Amino acid sequence: MRDLRDNDEFWMRRALDLARQGKGSVEPNPMVGCVVVRDGEEIGAGYHQRFGGPHAEVHALEKLEPEAVHAATVYVTLEPCSHFGKTPPCADLLLKHKPARIVVAMEDPYPEVSGRGITRLRDAGIHVELGVLDSEARLLNAPYIKLLDTKLPWVIAKWAMTLDGMMATHSGDSKWITNEASRAFVHRMRSEVDAILVGSETVLLDDPMLTARISSEEVPRRTPLRVVLDRRFRIPVGCKLAHTASQVGVLVVAGQSSLDANPQKMDQLQRLGCDILGIPPGLHDESIEFTLRSLGAKRLTNLLVEGGAQILGSLFDRQLVDQVDCFIAPKILGSHDARQPVCGKSKDWMNQASPLDRSTWREFDGDIHYRGFVRRS
Ligand SMILES: NC(=O)c1ccc[n+]([C@@H]2O[C@H](COP(=O)([O-])OP(=O)(O)OC[C@H]3O[C@@H](n4cnc5c(N)ncnc54)[C@H](OP(=O)(O)O)[C@@H]3O)[C@@H](O)[C@H]2O)c1
Ligand SMILES: [Zn+2]
Repeated sequence: MRDLRDNDEFWMRRALDLARQGKGSVEPNPMVGCVVVRDGEEIGAGYHQRFGGPHAEVHALEKLEPEAVHAATVYVTLEPCSHFGKTPPCADLLLKHKPARIVVAMEDPYPEVSGRGITRLRDAGIHVELGVLDSEARLLNAPYIKLLDTKLPWVIAKWAMTLDGMMATHSGDSKWITNEASRAFVHRMRSEVDAILVGSETVLLDDPMLTARISSEEVPRRTPLRVVLDRRFRIPVGCKLAHTASQVGVLVVAGQSSLDANPQKMDQLQRLGCDILGIPPGLHDESIEFTLRSLGAKRLTNLLVEGGAQILGSLFDRQLVDQVDCFIAPKILGSHDARQPVCGKSKDWMNQASPLDRSTWREFDGDIHYRGFVRRS
């Protein structure tokens, strides 16, 4: 027989698993899951399924009469809302059902909620427990929390490399390092983020498409904006990104002076459907920060950076990376002049390396997919 604490964690884990199903569909809202449990049995469950849609609590309670809930415990991964947003407050819905207990993983940092939902429920005499699996809930919604705190998107650095740590040959060839299963997973990752960023050199060398190409049985959750960081405005008008811009958005971030010097090219790209954002002259060295601030202002929650090495190096130099997804293929390039995946500033000492936490890894037909989170001091 599990004790109460174990029970709470068990059901909260179930609510977190449900919440996770909203990934890619709910942003910039948080992922939220909710489970209603009576006498050790689940009688209702739901999660926030899409941006603007009903909240998790609504789905979990919709088929239940209030009487059925009076003796139940409601588990919810985020503090119930207390304000009128796109939907009425979930705190009111819970008060109508009056469960015996409500267990909440974490407070909602959203300024209009932040503690008010819990206070409202407690003031009405409901026993509310806060903090069960708090760190798991924070990790799940770390991008949501970061966007609220800093107005910057969550930055995922992704690269593929050979076992000897190379991401392209000396000539720039990188097709393909990893196998089909790894690449299919990357396409799924793309379908869950708001934007994909690459450096101009990657466009010049690889001419990538950067779209989420997933199997016909899967439904894409979102179509990421494709962003090119291109201070000198070298993007070729004939590249695949430009020629698909009318179907899938492209944002070229280029130095204002380079744009002013090439009005015709700017016009051609705009006519193909590309958006162009000028970097003000004083911000040349802060092109990455400027781009992240612009994406954050559009409330883009997750940014996948797919290289190349210079962009990734600049991001690590500036401590702007939150998450690393590295795909390692069991191949040795064995070449002294091959390209490394992350080319930032040189370091003298190993203790200057960026440590990663909460590492996990899995296998894709012999490739290794490593995921970790950059430790913040
Ligand atoms: N294996 C993989 O996962 C993978 C993924 C992607 C690419 N690649 C390979 O990577 C190679 C290209 O990478 P790369 O390192 O040469 O170039 P890159 O990082 O794709 O692009 C570098 C360019 O980005 C621009 N940029 C704008 N702001 C920057 C900033 N703050 N810091 C640094 N650069 C900035 C610079 O041009 P401006 O000064 O004009 O702005 C710079 O020349 C190709 O060989 C490609 O195949 C491999
Ligand atoms: Zn709500």
